[in-house]
Amino acid sequence: MRKTITDIQQMKARGEPIAMLTAYDSVTAALFDSAGIPILLVGDSLGDNVLGFGSTIPVTLDDMVRHTAAVARGAQSALIVADMPFLTYATLDMAVTAARRLMQEGGAQAVKLEGGQAMTPIVRRLVECGVPVMGHLGYTPQSAHVFGKVRVQGRSAAAARRLIEDALALEEAGAFALVLELVPAQLAAAITERLRIPTIGIGAGPYCDGQVQVSTDMLGLRDDFKPRHARRFAELAPIIRAAAAAYIAAVSERSFPSDEHSSRMDEAALREALEGLS
Ligand code: KIV
Repeated sequence: MRKTITDIQQMKARGEPIAMLTAYDSVTAALFDSAGIPILLVGDSLGDNVLGFGSTIPVTLDDMVRHTAAVARGAQSALIVADMPFLTYATLDMAVTAARRLMQEGGAQAVKLEGGQAMTPIVRRLVECGVPVMGHLGYTPQSAHVFGKVRVQGRSAAAARRLIEDALALEEAGAFALVLELVPAQLAAAITERLRIPTIGIGAGPYCDGQVQVSTDMLGLRDDFKPRHARRFAELAPIIRAAAAAYIAAVSERSFPSDEHSSRMDEAALREALEGLS
């Protein structure tokens, strides 16, 4: 049975930590799902983690629909949350169209969008239309050019107060959960205490109701990139590179493929096929 937003909210009520991972394809989604992950986020981090862009900004709605559908085909149990890409929720109508595509064509059960009080009319409209919405506050990568630099948000009293007010406003507008990215741990704790909905942190300390990691970071797939907030639960980059090198060597020395990886045909049929050919 697929997890629902109620299941996720009950985890907060029971004090059970919520793990979320990003996924972008059906194979990885199936692996994470069989490990028991309750939420898969098809993040627009697709842009910098899979598509080779430098940020999330070039990611289009078509990209997100395609990858969300792949994840939905791979995962049977996890709740699938899809990111609304950059500027696809600038107006109410655009937001409804984007959410419709992510849910109808992509098979997501919920969407995520970035921003605070300014986004509450959008959140309210989507929720009225039957779309579960996850909020995202703190460092919001779609605003990379406004921030100028990736840095922890809400360190000053005024900025912290604004984040608390944004979080309360998103809850009031109907968001079912909230990602807090790059926020001081004590501020994330203060927000988490004040909300009925679960907070899911990334670089926001241990006091959130849940944690999210970008799967390429968590798996150690990019050995040139290790953000401070990420822990490598595996080191796959050297394993994959060694496997590729072993494959190249096997092809070079003709030890692959062997009979075991090949098929044969009846010799008479081959002779007949070759008859008359030079
Ligand atoms: O796109 C993404 O991966 C995200 C997470 C960092 C929360 O939004």
